[in-house]
Amino acid sequence: MAEFRLPKNSRITTGKTWPKPEGKNVRKFQIYRWNPDDGQNPRVDTYFVDMDDCGPMVLDALIYIKNKIDPTLTFRRSCREGICGSCAMNIDGINTLACIYGMDEIKGDVKIYPLPHMPVVKDLIPDLTHFYAQHASIMPWLETKTNRPAKEWKQSIEDRKKLDGLYECVMCASCSTSCPSYWWNSDRYLGPAALLHAYRWIIDSRDEATGERLDDLEDPFKLYRCHTIMNCAKTCPKGLNPAKAIAEIKKMMVERTV
Ligand code: SF4
Ligand code: FES
Repeated sequence: MAEFRLPKNSRITTGKTWPKPEGKNVRKFQIYRWNPDDGQNPRVDTYFVDMDDCGPMVLDALIYIKNKIDPTLTFRRSCREGICGSCAMNIDGINTLACIYGMDEIKGDVKIYPLPHMPVVKDLIPDLTHFYAQHASIMPWLETKTNRPAKEWKQSIEDRKKLDGLYECVMCASCSTSCPSYWWNSDRYLGPAALLHAYRWIIDSRDEATGERLDDLEDPFKLYRCHTIMNCAKTCPKGLNPAKAIAEIKKMMVERTV
């Protein structure tokens, strides 16, 4: 797993407060900052945004700050539609996607931090190297043994429906980084996102590696560190339920032994 690169004994300090503009609809933002190159502790900077001059989502405010106040503020974003999963961060105490989280859902000051319990690359950007490696480890592709059909791998409408609630995952990591089991055991516990994807391929009627997939997950840490805390389902910005997918995998483990 990638290592935290924060200085030992580092503390979050109070950072710069930027000037407050005139206006009736000005909101205060407190945003985590950390630059690996300046040797300083992490800090929280304070910004003010005139919401009458800004779009309605938290990502709009971050883009406003970067474009008009402080170009050094660093965060990931791409689609602005809740599809790419890249703008996940902790907003007002909730792991979510900044581009689909409305400013009107937040009362008072807006506090923004990177996803918790992850190494930080810079400011609001977590290092997802280990998270992606775990995803790759569950073989997120169709595994087949029979000869490739002339046209396509067919699937009934009923079997296709079994993938609903799973295929929509955008790999934002909000769920895994909200899970206490993942915080303490992410070196060995796969976490809700990877396990949701594992289940998505296990129940795909076209896949021919179900046994191998279950064998791989039969492990005290990879799967069984889920203690049904349910933070994953509560926080998922796409309304998915990784805990249910994990429970289904556990059920399949029991059923194949009887
Ligand atoms: S299950 Fe939800 S929270 Fe977890 S990675 Fe997928 S979209 Fe993000
Ligand atoms: S920018 Fe793509 S999900 Fe937010």
